[in-house]
Amino acid sequence: MSALSSTFSPRLVAWQRQHGRHDLPWQNTRDPYRIWLSEIMLQQTQVATVVSYYARFLARFPDVRSLAAAPLDDVMALWAGLGYYSRARNLHRCAQQVVEAHGGAFPGTVEALAALPGIGRSTAAAIASFAFGARATILDGNVKRVLARVFGVEGFPGEKRVENAMWALAESLLPAASAPDEVSAYTQGLMDLGATLCVRGKPGCERCPFAADCVAHATGRQRELPAARPKKTVPTRRTWMLVLRDGDAVMLEKRPPAGIWGGLWSLPEAADEAALTQRARALGAQTEVVALGPLTHTFTHFRLNIEPRMADLGRLASSEVALADEATAWVALRDLDAYGVPAPVRRLLDGLQGTLL
Ligand code: ADE
Repeated sequence: MSALSSTFSPRLVAWQRQHGRHDLPWQNTRDPYRIWLSEIMLQQTQVATVVSYYARFLARFPDVRSLAAAPLDDVMALWAGLGYYSRARNLHRCAQQVVEAHGGAFPGTVEALAALPGIGRSTAAAIASFAFGARATILDGNVKRVLARVFGVEGFPGEKRVENAMWALAESLLPAASAPDEVSAYTQGLMDLGATLCVRGKPGCERCPFAADCVAHATGRQRELPAARPKKTVPTRRTWMLVLRDGDAVMLEKRPPAGIWGGLWSLPEAADEAALTQRARALGAQTEVVALGPLTHTFTHFRLNIEPRMADLGRLASSEVALADEATAWVALRDLDAYGVPAPVRRLLDGLQGTLL
């Protein structure tokens, strides 16, 4: 074992205790429910965004039983805007499994945690180490960046071969059998180093406890490590959305459970302009169908160009327009908070408050 490998964990723990973060809302607890919830929210989402969602969620669902017993719609409504909605559906299923299969208590091992919906190997390790003091390593995007730079790991970390090598490296760096507090500080140290110093853009190498040993620092390759994803252009899809209004109410449709924005309430859609106009008429639009400014939303695997169109029922009242089924609703713009609405659709609708066609 190199000098760096054998000193890595004590140096990281010492750095975390002195310079790491200690007052995040999900710290200073060993409650697995609170820790689990934070880790799921923090997958792919920044701390600054998560903080307010986390507080609202806990206020409404203070424990795993209240979450398991809630309707999925309520969970989706509280999640709306955080993105990656399969996380919310899995969160709900996971809570139900914890109640049904584990008597309401989260299991304490990485293996049992990783068998639950929405909990991968790294998240399982974060929960196990924070809540149960288990000696298990995390390996998320930030940690991959730290390891790639400090140890000079070549290759794109999204590639299986590189990722496997990083898991092995991360495992080998864990503190030796140690107190729970030390494991927590180690896990938090990995997160903190990646989020506050060893950042993607301008890393703070002058303050880094590993600067003297870091391969990227020694060779000036902070920008090249970790290696970028091999280039591939993301495809673009286009969709037409209908803002069908009855005064200050709009028609929303509940999306099917699987696929993008699964289970959220969104606007009726069509694949082109003509089809959208036809849908507008079929749904009872009495006015001209007017164009609103286009929007773009970027998903992991494609870009979505949204062409919004707006029409009104005119003198026809929404109460006279038969709703196709319970997957359709008329919602006043001021009541949107009660519905899980995708972020770009919400932005579009928020822009309409106070306007009439
Ligand atoms: N990102 C993922 N988990 C985190 C945590 N517990 N604290 C801060 N950032 C995180």
